[in-house]
Parts: sequence; C-alpha cells; structure tokens
Amino acid sequence: MRLNVLITKEQLEKKTEEIADAITRDYNGKELVLVGVLKGGFIYLSDLARKIKMDVDIDFISVSSYGNSTESTGVVKIIKDVDTDVGGKHVLIVEDIIDTGLTLKYLKELFSTKGCASVKIAAILDKPERRKVDIKVDYPGIQIPDMFVVGYGLDYAGKYRNLPDVCVVEQT
Ligand code: IMP
Ligand code: MG
Repeated sequence: MRLNVLITKEQLEKKTEEIADAITRDYNGKELVLVGVLKGGFIYLSDLARKIKMDVDIDFISVSSYGNSTESTGVVKIIKDVDTDVGGKHVLIVEDIIDTGLTLKYLKELFSTKGCASVKIAAILDKPERRKVDIKVDYPGIQIPDMFVVGYGLDYAGKYRNLPDVCVVEQT
C-alpha cells in the first residue's frame, strides 16, 4: 500500500484560516457551540477552533461510520451524544468529509430537534460526485475527486488519522 499526498497541510491550513475568519464574522456576539464529529472531525475541529477569534463552547458527538470497510452502509447510529445543553445556542457541526451526505443529513436533523438557535455545517473535505442526499455545507472546504483518502483525521481501518496531509491510498 502506498500513500500519495493529495492535499498538503499548507493547503489545509490556508482553507481553515479562511473558514475560521468567516465563522468569526458570522457568529460575532452569538453563543456558538462547535460540535466535532468523532472520530474523524477531531483534527479539523482543533485547528479550526484555534483560529476562531471569539469565545466558543466545544463538544463532540460520535456516530457509527464505515467500520473497517470503505463503503457507506447508509446506517447512522449515535454512539455518544453531546453533553452540552444546546437549546437556544448556535451549533456548528464540524466534520472531516462529506461523502454521500447521509451522516451530516442525519446529524442536522438530530440537532434540529434539540431547539438550537441555528444548526450549520463545516466539513473540510467534500466528494461531490458521491452525494446521495441533498445537503448544504454552510462552510465548504476543499473538493476532492471520488477517491478514498486518509490523514487529517480520516482513517483506513483505524490508521493514518494522524498524517498531517490528506493522502490517497494506492493498493500495491
Ligand atoms: P457520508 O455519510 O457518506 O457523507 O460519510 C461520512 C463519513 O464517512 C466521514 O465522516 C468519514 O468518516 C467517512 N469517509 C468518507 N469518505 C472517506 C474517505 O475517503 N476516507 C476515510 N473516511 C471517509
Ligand atoms: Mg467521520
């Protein structure tokens, strides 16, 4: 197996900075809760949070994903919900990638039932060709082709989340 760099850490950092600036502008004076989607969203959330120039609350939600396969099952299960009372607050869901869109559509609907002031989405990567459901990413990141990638939070069978760049897995 070989790993080829697709998106460099510099590209990720530049995009994250742009998005953090937009978030700082848009949520000025509001109560914002960043909700990272575990496990993949933890790196992006930590980078994004440090570039946002206002007070924020931080929480995490954990959902079932692909297991050890590279194909979506379409089934989303909550493994850990947020602890924060998000009622009346502005929620920004922070995800590593939007692929089919099933996970984020489910999460957006889940938060809509919690009485939040608003629910928006930030995903650092996007595979538009793979979309199965119509869902809007409010803070879009970097579009990539239909390839399985790892690094910057994304895993293959639990590994490679800690790679600083986003890499394509090439089976050899
Ligand atoms: P969706 O529900 O199909 O949009 O998938 C979202 C989740 O699938 C992401 O949060 C990732 O955990 C995982 N995923 C999608 N594409 C990839 C990939 O290329 N590499 C690793 N994980 C991925
Ligand atoms: Mg994920």
